[in-house]
Parts: sequence; structure tokens; C-alpha cells
Amino acid sequence: MRRSGVRLRKRIGQIRSQNQISCVEPILPVTADLLEDFWSQRYKAGQTGWDLGAVSPPLKHIIDAWKNESKENLRILLPGCGNAYEANYLLEQGFKDITVVDIAQPALTSLKERLSESSGHLDRIQLIHGDFFSLDGTFHLILEQTFFCALDPSLRPDYARKMHDLLEPAGELAGVFFDAPMYDHRPPFGGSAAEYRELLEPYFELLIWESCKVSHPARQGSELLFRLQKKG
Ligand SMILES: C[S@@+](CC[C@H](N)C(=O)[O-])C[C@H]1O[C@@H](n2cnc3c(N)ncnc32)[C@H](O)[C@@H]1O
Repeated sequence: MRRSGVRLRKRIGQIRSQNQISCVEPILPVTADLLEDFWSQRYKAGQTGWDLGAVSPPLKHIIDAWKNESKENLRILLPGCGNAYEANYLLEQGFKDITVVDIAQPALTSLKERLSESSGHLDRIQLIHGDFFSLDGTFHLILEQTFFCALDPSLRPDYARKMHDLLEPAGELAGVFFDAPMYDHRPPFGGSAAEYRELLEPYFELLIWESCKVSHPARQGSELLFRLQKKG
């Protein structure tokens, strides 16, 4: 599943030309190998300030809602999964078909170790080392948390399109975005609910789109909670 640098450069080139008017230039590395190094180095150096060490309260809230709606048999994707404590929680709650993807191998290695040591259930989860934008297949549910803000801002239009493409008809993208400026020279890249809405509304119905009331204390007041349903 690893994408070649040439292919990634071609994609960035296309994005560059699409964005000529707004002059959005990539800030993060533009080849797959360099991007993988960028993220892997952070895991190796323990520079993982985003890692909450447990399932986050808003994602737990969404997973609990999905369980109440009897969605345990549906295919779920966690893109840019990192340590994916949410995957452990999904497994504990009886979800049966989980795919996680991350460009950084160290994140997947520690997730696999944790899964083997705990409940196991490795038959219910697929771990993919690779680039989200090269992912094939379709899913009913996709869980977002600190993946969007980790992507180069020039890729945001691609993110919206790819999420739409990866979902089954009436499938759902749910999770949290930072509704705050954050950083503009490094991740986490921020933004506003109004910007995100403009980006996503062509592709999704907004089922839930509100200031998050169940954030982790460190993220209180800075998150937007959403559940979006694929249009078309
Ligand atoms: C800020 S971390 C968030 C990890 C996890 N979602 C969490 O909440 O703890 C962003 C993650 O996205 C991964 N990532 C960044 N760009 C990616 C891409 N194009 N494809 C797949 N994973 C990517 C990084 O390796 C990193 O693990």
C-alpha cells in the first residue's frame, strides 16, 4: 500500500495548480518517504503531544451512539489512527470490522503490541501501513480525530473528496475538528467551523455540527463535534 514519492509529488502538483488562486503551498513534506519520516520520528522521539493515552471522551460518545444504533457489524475506518485507543474501545464494544491506517509504522507497531497483550481480537481489525489518500475500499463509518489537523492544509479539499469516496452510500464521517486557530506553520493546523462547513457541505449532510461539550479537559472549548452523512 506504500505510495511512491513520484505519485505523491504528482498529486501535490495537481493540488498546487488547483490552488494557484489561493496560493496554498504545502508546508509538510511532499513525498511519501519524507512524510513517513516526519511522523515516525515523532513517535520514536516520544513527541506525541496529541496522544491522550485512552479513548477520547468525544469519540467514546460517538462510538456509544453507534452501538445504541446497532452498527457493530458495519465496516469502520480510523484514518491517521496513531495509537488508536478508539480501536481498542470499538473491539471491547463488539464492533467486528475495523480498519486502521497510518503512515507511521511505529504507531502501528505499538498498537499491534497493545492489541495482542489485551483482548486480542486481531481477526476483527486490519492494520494498514500507508497513506490515507491511496487507500482503496469503502466503509460505512469513518472516525476522525486529530488526523485532519495533521494534514498539510493544501490537502483539505482532497480530504473532503477522499472521505466522500471512501464511504458507502449514506455512510457517516464522525468525530472532532479543532475549531481554533492552532498553528499555521506546523501541525496541528487549525481553522474554523465556518471554513470546514464550506469544505464539507458539498459532500455531506450535517447530522450533528456543534461545539463539543464532552471534550477531554485539555481540549475544552476548542473542538467541534460532528456527524456527517454522505450525500449522493
Ligand atoms: C496528530 S496524529 C493523531 C493520531 C490519532 N488520530 C490520535 O488522535 O491520537 C496524526 C496521525 O496521522 C498520521 N498521518 C499523517 N498523514 C498521514 C497520511 N497521509 N496517511 C496516513 N496517516 C497519516 C500520522 O502518522 C499520525 O499518526
